[in-house]
Amino acid sequence: MKDDDEMKGTKDDVQPDSSAKAPSQQPKSSKKRKSKEIAIFGNYRNYYGYRIDQELKEDPRIKVLKKEWFEGKDCLDIGCNSGVITITIAKKFCCRSILGIDIDSARIEDAYWNLRNMKMSDRKMRKKISEGEGAGDVNGVEHLVYEPPSEDPASSIPLDNVSFRKENIVQSPRPSEERYDTIICFSVTKWIHLNWGDDGLITLFSKIWRLLQPGGIFILEPQPWISYKKNHQVSEIAAHNYFNIKLHPECFQDILLDKIGFRTVENITSRLPGSKSGFDRPILAFWK
Ligand SMILES: C[S@@+](CC[C@H](N)C(=O)[O-])C[C@H]1O[C@@H](n2cnc3c(N)ncnc32)[C@H](O)[C@@H]1O
Repeated sequence: MKDDDEMKGTKDDVQPDSSAKAPSQQPKSSKKRKSKEIAIFGNYRNYYGYRIDQELKEDPRIKVLKKEWFEGKDCLDIGCNSGVITITIAKKFCCRSILGIDIDSARIEDAYWNLRNMKMSDRKMRKKISEGEGAGDVNGVEHLVYEPPSEDPASSIPLDNVSFRKENIVQSPRPSEERYDTIICFSVTKWIHLNWGDDGLITLFSKIWRLLQPGGIFILEPQPWISYKKNHQVSEIAAHNYFNIKLHPECFQDILLDKIGFRTVENITSRLPGSKSGFDRPILAFWK
């Protein structure tokens, strides 16, 4: 399994960088530039290029998710990075809407770049079909038979229901009427913990609780405590918080059930495919 700290395609700036270019336009990092890059929020550039086993087509975490948790639902992806998981969930599970938020505006730009790319390839496919390659006759009626580029039938879903927003979940004020059916938070808690300590973590969990509809699902993939050590020197604040953290990830389940108020939990990790998954952390689904 690759840990977050092994990834070198990182962002060098603490402040959101609205001038960031789309991935293909970004200059190749020189050694000098790389040595300066520290992603203090886990806001890595090229996260998925490094994070996922290159042989795997799909992020293995997607495999443990159930379609019914997303289909026709309003969903939120906290710490979406470049939006790969967000877009995949939208396509595969046909959400009514999905919003990806990230603290780093450069990652949000990457996410919109990925979304535009995906929409463009979908449009190209549709055009190809309308030019005669996919027309079919069903029960005497001429139908457009859309053959998606992959074996996944959901890949033809238009992506108008996907959006991204720069937002710091810990500190942003939220409109009180905003509600979601499903919220995911993958590989983010360590960064919130290191940057805002135990208070930040509790703020995150409380906010998620408030943002969920009754009966809604919160899917959490927390990083293990052992991995904090490798990142605690990303900043002075992180080092300070690291030594003062009392709520270790092993307690998150109890906190969410006993203090925050979630009704029930399921550890869905057991559905992860074997050793080459690249992810061997618990993934927990909580119901409000
Ligand atoms: C390690 S990446 C995980 C990306 C994605 N969730 C995944 O698992 O594939 C962590 C992401 O969380 C974002 N992040 C960290 N703190 C955040 C905060 N307070 N609010 C919103 N996003 C945050 C970072 O910018 C980064 O893109």
